[in-house]
Amino acid sequence: MLKVGLIGFGFMGRMHFDNYVRLMKEGAPVQLVAICDQLIEELKEGKASGNIATEQEVYDLSPFRLYDDIDNMLEAEELDIVDITLPTYLHADLTCSLLDKGMHVLCEKPVAGHSTDGWRMVEAAKRSGKTLMIGQCLRFWPAYELLKEVMQDGRFGAATGGYFFRGSAAPKGWFLDGAKSGGCMLDMHIHDADMIHWLFGKPQKVSSIARNVIPGSAYDNVSTNYIYADGKAINAQADWTLEGDYGFSMTYRVNFEGGNLVFENGEVKVNPNDAPGYVAELSPDMGYYRQIKYFIDAVYAGAPVEVCTPESAVGTLELIEAEIRSADQGGETVAL
Ligand SMILES: NC(=O)c1ccc[n+]([C@@H]2O[C@H](COP(=O)([O-])OP(=O)(O)OC[C@H]3O[C@@H](n4cnc5c(N)ncnc54)[C@H](O)[C@@H]3O)[C@@H](O)[C@H]2O)c1
Repeated sequence: MLKVGLIGFGFMGRMHFDNYVRLMKEGAPVQLVAICDQLIEELKEGKASGNIATEQEVYDLSPFRLYDDIDNMLEAEELDIVDITLPTYLHADLTCSLLDKGMHVLCEKPVAGHSTDGWRMVEAAKRSGKTLMIGQCLRFWPAYELLKEVMQDGRFGAATGGYFFRGSAAPKGWFLDGAKSGGCMLDMHIHDADMIHWLFGKPQKVSSIARNVIPGSAYDNVSTNYIYADGKAINAQADWTLEGDYGFSMTYRVNFEGGNLVFENGEVKVNPNDAPGYVAELSPDMGYYRQIKYFIDAVYAGAPVEVCTPESAVGTLELIEAEIRSADQGGETVAL
């Protein structure tokens, strides 16, 4: 049985918590034993907030040992796995120290604020021989897994172009401090950049137009063209200034030689060029559940986390850094 400590009980901490509770009920070889958040006393009574609803409004945390200090938790507990759902600027140092202490680590995306820190995390994982996975959850999200499948099995031939989007109103708190979150590009747009990296590999060049709208934040609205040798036209946009009743959305449209896939309003429509279109039947599970299950199964089996290696997550961060350099130069193309 793998003993897990969860650090961070904000929006993503609760999301991960829901999935550990589900996995334990399902008999997975995992036991969530401890939860740490500096605000645990007030959060344990409170409601989660975020783009995607967590399962419960109020949580019964009585079966778990609760801590408001990370060192105290690590001193008191013997953990196999630590799951980090802390703000981004706290990911790198903690991950390296946990790996060095002999724990496996699942750390939320983005891997870190800077790729140099990301590579330190990769090195710590190699040095310790422990498993590190970054929660690039779209790689486990059924609508995006289908895209990967279509790319890999070649049923519609090569991709010729694609558009990816996600957007919402501005998040709150530390997210609006560009130095802590990296703004919309590092926090939100990285999901689609990671998907593009995962599906098509690194582009040769990028060109990004980005705007800073919210005072104190980094870029909070971006459009990037990804330039590939074969000329396919790939663009991704993200915007966290969609206020009013907008809510949250994530969409894509990818065109292949023999058909196209469109993800909108939670459904993927598959449109073969030479046959009627249909709505794909996909697992109803969210990527968060599938990602944690994959990580637990890999650690339990002593198998590598091939779907999302830490190296590839840092590669995505390097892609975002190239996009930021391009945006800083008003959209000049930047080579990778
Ligand atoms: N995969 C996704 O779809 C997704 C979605 C949202 C957020 N995230 C990522 O998850 C991470 C956390 O985001 P969030 O939305 O949960 O943020 P959040 O602000 O809701 O939660 C962070 C929690 O960490 C706690 N915390 C901060 N410093 C601490 C410390 N030193 N010791 C103990 N606890 C501390 C805070 O009290 C807070 O409860 C970020 O890196 C973010 O980018 C990923």
